[in-house]
Amino acid sequence: MIKKIVKKRYHALKKYYELYKLGKKFSNDESFQLTKNLTNIEKTKKPYRFDIINFLSLTINAQNYLEIGVRNPADNFNLINISNKYSVDPGVEFELNPVDFKMTSDDFFSQLSQNSLKIPNDTKFDVIFIDGLHLAQQVEKDIFNSIQYLSEDGFIVLHDCNPPSEHHARETYSFYNSPAGGAWNGTTWKAFVKARMTYNSCCIDSDWGVGIISKSAKPGLNILKNSEENHFYEYSIFNDKRKEFLNLLSFESFTQKNS
Ligand SMILES: C[S@@+](CC[C@H](N)C(=O)[O-])C[C@H]1O[C@@H](n2cnc3c(N)ncnc32)[C@H](O)[C@@H]1O
Repeated sequence: MIKKIVKKRYHALKKYYELYKLGKKFSNDESFQLTKNLTNIEKTKKPYRFDIINFLSLTINAQNYLEIGVRNPADNFNLINISNKYSVDPGVEFELNPVDFKMTSDDFFSQLSQNSLKIPNDTKFDVIFIDGLHLAQQVEKDIFNSIQYLSEDGFIVLHDCNPPSEHHARETYSFYNSPAGGAWNGTTWKAFVKARMTYNSCCIDSDWGVGIISKSAKPGLNILKNSEENHFYEYSIFNDKRKEFLNLLSFESFTQKNS
């Protein structure tokens, strides 16, 4: 009997030790450590997205603001200093979801175009912050729809355009066992880089990459020369040419050009 219990305990301990060794192998891996460092570096960067949005809004005296993807309004929406603010979110991540339009961005733009929302379909927003579903196909649609409702000198701002590693740029948000852990930028960068071939734009190197798009020419913004270099949107090519592909600027150099 005692022999049986000892044998059982021995096997259980052996199993735990094997798991411990496996965990150690992953966390000591060079690329795992590098990715963790990149996450930590990104977290120290300032200013935050709301500081950048507030700066942009001052340059054009913005009156109307739209945020696509809000989660907890305390994190960004409530910190925006623009008088008329509207919010869209289907409530995937934050159960309370205290937004104006509890729906996806696709439904919002479709209903807006049919004039069936509480705001008229000739509304123009001065700043539209796109921070909903971070998959390239969706972000591309959000950019296209936002352009239709953007004032002539307005700005589209996008969060998560500068993923520090391919693990941050994974497609599956819920896979937390990658070296990026819970940090996720998705494939927003692909839609942003594509849009940069059409629109004047740049990306502020802070808070995971804050993309800025304008319909008109503005200081610091440029259009990416349409090259064949990365037509499959491979992360490694993007990584090598990140500065050019994103028109990556520090906030200081952007504000200097715009003051
Ligand atoms: C990253 S959070 C937004 C964070 C917030 N903007 C901030 O700055 O703190 C993404 C939000 O997008 C919402 N979302 C997911 N799919 C969406 C869609 N198709 N349209 C609009 N919002 C969506 C989620 O419910 C979630 O609240």
